[in-house]
Amino acid sequence: MTLQLGQPAPDFEADTTMGPIRFHDWLGQSWGVLFSHPKDFTPVCTTELGEVARLRPEFERRGVKVIGLSVDDVTSHRGWAGDIEETQGTPLNFPLIGDPDRKISDMYGMIHPDASDTLTVRSVFIIDPNKKVRLILTYPASCGRNFQEILRAIDSLQLTDQYSVATPVNWQEGQDVIIVPSLVDEDEIRAKFPKGYKALKPYLRVTPQPNR
Ligand code: BEZ
Repeated sequence: MTLQLGQPAPDFEADTTMGPIRFHDWLGQSWGVLFSHPKDFTPVCTTELGEVARLRPEFERRGVKVIGLSVDDVTSHRGWAGDIEETQGTPLNFPLIGDPDRKISDMYGMIHPDASDTLTVRSVFIIDPNKKVRLILTYPASCGRNFQEILRAIDSLQLTDQYSVATPVNWQEGQDVIIVPSLVDEDEIRAKFPKGYKALKPYLRVTPQPNR
């Protein structure tokens, strides 16, 4: 069964470059990003891990813990971490899970046999503090991910959890948002959006970002 949005993120025990963890305990009350890599000592993954290490303060500012996974073991990951620091100019400052028996990769559907029997695809799971899966991305091994997009999606998820809004195409933090179509009571709309709104169509109502 494929993991789907809204389902509980499966819990697991794992060895990581920062010691053993039980995933849900490690997450605590934080949001989480779990992302997989096809294999250690591969070029695209090396650049991705460097980028996530650089962006770690941005994830922390949003209350998000990041954790990577690659199907090799932690001894191999530790060797690779040296290369990441050397080539990307930043130490690997978050845990990387070892999954040599592919227990976690299988649990999360990170192996797509028609792409490769043995390597994980580039999966991303954004998990909320209730341990629910809120966003899933799947990229092929040849295409490095855009982690700015993952931060943008987290901003959207966190905003739309708090207010009755959705975020439009290419939305960035600070830009106007959309009042959800299910909200129709004018008094409630005025109370929730004191800055007002523009109705381009009855179903397309735009308002300034409420928490700005
Ligand atoms: C990479 O991370 O560079 C990579 C991994 C597997 C296949 C192709 C590229």
